[in-house]
Amino acid sequence: MKALEIKKGVYWVGAIDWKLRNFHGYLTQRGSTYNAYLIIDDKITLVDTVKHYFFDEMLERIKDIVEPSKIDYIVSNHTEMDHSGCLPGMMGIAKNATLICSPNGEKGLKRHFKKDWNFKVVNTGDSINIGRRNLKFVCAPMVHWPDSMVTYIPEDKLLLSNDAFGQHIASEERFNDEIEWDIVKSESMKYYANIVLPYGAQVQDALKAVESLDIDMIAPSHGLIWRSGIKDIIEAYKKWSTNTCDEKAVIAYDTMWHTTEKMANAINDAFTAKGIKTALRSLQEYHISDVMADILESKYICIGSPTLNNGIMPTVASLLTYMKGLAPKNRIGIAFGSYGWGGQSVGEIEKAFEACKFQLPLKDLKLQYIPDEKELGELKQKIINAIP
Ligand code: FEO
Repeated sequence: MKALEIKKGVYWVGAIDWKLRNFHGYLTQRGSTYNAYLIIDDKITLVDTVKHYFFDEMLERIKDIVEPSKIDYIVSNHTEMDHSGCLPGMMGIAKNATLICSPNGEKGLKRHFKKDWNFKVVNTGDSINIGRRNLKFVCAPMVHWPDSMVTYIPEDKLLLSNDAFGQHIASEERFNDEIEWDIVKSESMKYYANIVLPYGAQVQDALKAVESLDIDMIAPSHGLIWRSGIKDIIEAYKKWSTNTCDEKAVIAYDTMWHTTEKMANAINDAFTAKGIKTALRSLQEYHISDVMADILESKYICIGSPTLNNGIMPTVASLLTYMKGLAPKNRIGIAFGSYGWGGQSVGEIEKAFEACKFQLPLKDLKLQYIPDEKELGELKQKIINAIP
């Protein structure tokens, strides 16, 4: 297995996870990669590792360049085990290596691995000379865990950004401009919506630090390496981290006897009539992690469920629980649903919207049993009237 030189003396030595389809609940249809980077300098440095079961794959790539026992430094930008899983193996081989991490990284790694490795704790602004290069560290707490940091190499204008700017894409290609932009963009959006969205304030802090750096390549720990479009992805992160939305509507629903579906279609027609783009998502067909990608840039979040056993359908409950955790802000919520008796579903969805602090311009949008064209027409008109 071959390493790939991404900058002179800097090699990608990660692993490709072609089979990954579930990343803690996030449907990863395209698989993923775990990107580790080897820097050949006076002090040989490995930045991050890979999931534990890809140890041999990473080791083969390192051996392609250097004898692994000669590694002097291992930088752990992030404790989560998709990047730290091979630390025990690597520290066992590179017995004299120093393990560099943030203060929370040291705490997290000790809790994970119960090893008293030779830690060197670094903070934002610290740097370590490895020969021709300096490694500069910027802590980026909560992008994605409290321990997260990024490593910057000014001599190479290279940012090793760990989870930030990643995408879950398994491919032979290593660079963003080797794959269609639409795929890279949509997977970057989905990744942000499902991994990074709750941490907007922290992303903005990290972006301020990154913007002061002279960068011509961003090498994240998942997916493709950005050697072009850097301004575009940074601008996208600014937009997403500030919950800046477009005039778009997501209409996500489940249905029992097609009444809630008819309501979803009427709501879809209302937005279309107002010239607003929609994403109509049956939760029987669309995964909640794909719906979150739709939610990322949409101002209007419409969610519908029939009443089932005095509550909502499990698919809708799943979306609401997931969405509340990911905490999108500054949205307008429209809850809707059908019922036979009881009719509690709409109230349940409205409660979830209130927990997200969404605006609710309409309340109690429910229809009993089978609606006729007049009732559906009235629903459509209510939505048209409520949209500014
Ligand atoms: Fe890719 Fe938060 O780990």
